[in-house]
Amino acid sequence: MHTIDLEQLKERVREAFAQHAADHDFDHILRVYNMAVHLAKEEGADLEKVACAALLHDISDHKLNGGKLNEGGKVSAAILMEMGADEDFAREVGEIVDNVSYKGSGVADAEGSLELNCVRDADRLDAMGAIGIARAFHFGGGRNRPFFEANTRPKAHSSFEEYASDKSHTINHFHEKLLLLRERLQTRTARAIGEDRHQLMQDFVDAFYRDWYFGENAEMGAEDGTMN
Ligand code: ADP
Ligand code: NI
Repeated sequence: MHTIDLEQLKERVREAFAQHAADHDFDHILRVYNMAVHLAKEEGADLEKVACAALLHDISDHKLNGGKLNEGGKVSAAILMEMGADEDFAREVGEIVDNVSYKGSGVADAEGSLELNCVRDADRLDAMGAIGIARAFHFGGGRNRPFFEANTRPKAHSSFEEYASDKSHTINHFHEKLLLLRERLQTRTARAIGEDRHQLMQDFVDAFYRDWYFGENAEMGAEDGTMN
């Protein structure tokens, strides 16, 4: 029976994220960690497994590792084994890490353990609400993308590859992911927290279109986020 030194793991992840931009930095990891532990306590999940998976969930993200889509689980398990974890524990945390990511509106989430649901819900809650809006525009800004282009409609992605390679404007990301997250939250605790965060994003997008189409532009018609 092992005990993982969570402070040591935190420091290791902090170093790995030192150069990351604010849409995906160590503060994101800490918010997800805090939320995942909160959900785990409320839902009665295994705290150590949830804590480790939350800290490691973005350790090898495809947007930051040169495009490899499913490396995180392997990398996480190796780090935990190095820190003295039991093999089963390391493998189970790795499985959680591999199933956290959103892979497109047409790709169903893998069904998994209560521990997976806590970590995945925590990651998704951090993509929603005020911080979710800030992260989305920071992400788009870092890639020099426009806020919005009326003629580029949102897409329903049917594979992770298609979703991950899409480079459209940031408002589309609300229709392709952020406004769909509420329905994907699994735990009761996260669903309750997600309500306000969802509403704030919906109000933001409505106001964005109102401002964009102000006056004469109103003749161009209202956007409703219909997918192609
Ligand atoms: P995580 O790695 O935390 O599961 P993602 O990797 O999907 O989440 O994205 C990290 C952050 O960047 C999230 O807040 C997400 O909404 C945002 N993001 C991802 N893709 C886009 C995009 N195409 N446009 C704007 N924001 C994006
Ligand atoms: Ni994340």
